[in-house]
Amino acid sequence: MAFTIDVHLSPDDVRRQMRNDALAGLQAEHKSIPPVWFYDERGSQLFEEITRLPEYYPTRAERRLLVAHAPAIAEMSKADTLVELGAGACDKTRILLDALQDAGTLARYVPFDVSDGFLRNAAATLSVEYASLAIHLVIGDFHHHLAEIPTEGRRLVAFLGGTIGNLDPSQRARFLFDLNCTMSSDDCLLLGTDLVKDRTRLVKAYDDEAGVTAAFNRNVLHVLNEQLAGDFDPELFSHVALWNEGTQCIEMRLRAGQTTEVTLHDAGITVQFHEGEELLTEISAKFTPEGVAAELMEAGFVVEGTWGADQGEFMLSLAHPYC
Ligand code: SAH
Ligand code: AVI
Repeated sequence: MAFTIDVHLSPDDVRRQMRNDALAGLQAEHKSIPPVWFYDERGSQLFEEITRLPEYYPTRAERRLLVAHAPAIAEMSKADTLVELGAGACDKTRILLDALQDAGTLARYVPFDVSDGFLRNAAATLSVEYASLAIHLVIGDFHHHLAEIPTEGRRLVAFLGGTIGNLDPSQRARFLFDLNCTMSSDDCLLLGTDLVKDRTRLVKAYDDEAGVTAAFNRNVLHVLNEQLAGDFDPELFSHVALWNEGTQCIEMRLRAGQTTEVTLHDAGITVQFHEGEELLTEISAKFTPEGVAAELMEAGFVVEGTWGADQGEFMLSLAHPYC
């Protein structure tokens, strides 16, 4: 079946938003750039490669939980519509789609992502596999366009992969509250969160032997060069992954190997990096089961079920808005 597409983030919007982020983040005392800009076509492909690395356990851990518990999740949600935020390659999605199909309720799939071309390709493959499924793609940014997501049907809104950990605590509170406001009391949220664990294992997951995560990290500089006519030399920057005990986050940074000056012509800025200066590119928060429950409750959700908390690797939570 052909799919429909709503675009809330055009290529011009992407450039405008990235320009604003570059102006704010690269001119700050502690330089940073939001992780959303990792995901051009190449970045999305590199992330898929990361999910297959021996060191990167979250995808496999979440997949195991979905395989074991998707039938119960489908039964509890009674959803006919699967909405997926940050859907990417829509890979683990198939486990949920199959469970909803087996429960006899599945009618519609609504993947939402910022990565336009990559999502279209993923949806095209899916539309062949699930010939009778109505697929409605939404291209947007979940910090800005949650209210644009179609509300048709009884919805299971999945936010998988631990992507919520890439938001800082205030962004998470805002995101969960805004999402809650778009949901009816019949809708459910399925949230995947990575759990706090041994720091060596955590750091290795973000600093793999093969250097794929390093390439993913540096890709943001290629994206800035391409979108804003920049002259970053990505090879001058080394990949840094560390565990921040205070914030319980993995932080990814890019460290300048020498003093350098970078111009982003289309943002109208030239910035200096001194040798050893770091650009923060991503946080990946790791949670405790109690912490996830508290954040959900604070945003107006009632938790109906959790899976994986006892294994301590990764957790799925199913929640619905207070009536
Ligand atoms: N859900 C998949 C992919 C996770 S990678 C999985 O579990 O494997 C994170 C995904 O979120 C990418 O596809 C990326 O393009 C998307 N993403 C990141 N920031 C986003 C934002 N602000 N708005 C919408 N999508 C975003
Ligand atoms: C998408 N997100 C949950 C990944 C993570 O683990 O924080 C992104 C990633 N960054 C480096 N490796 C994977």
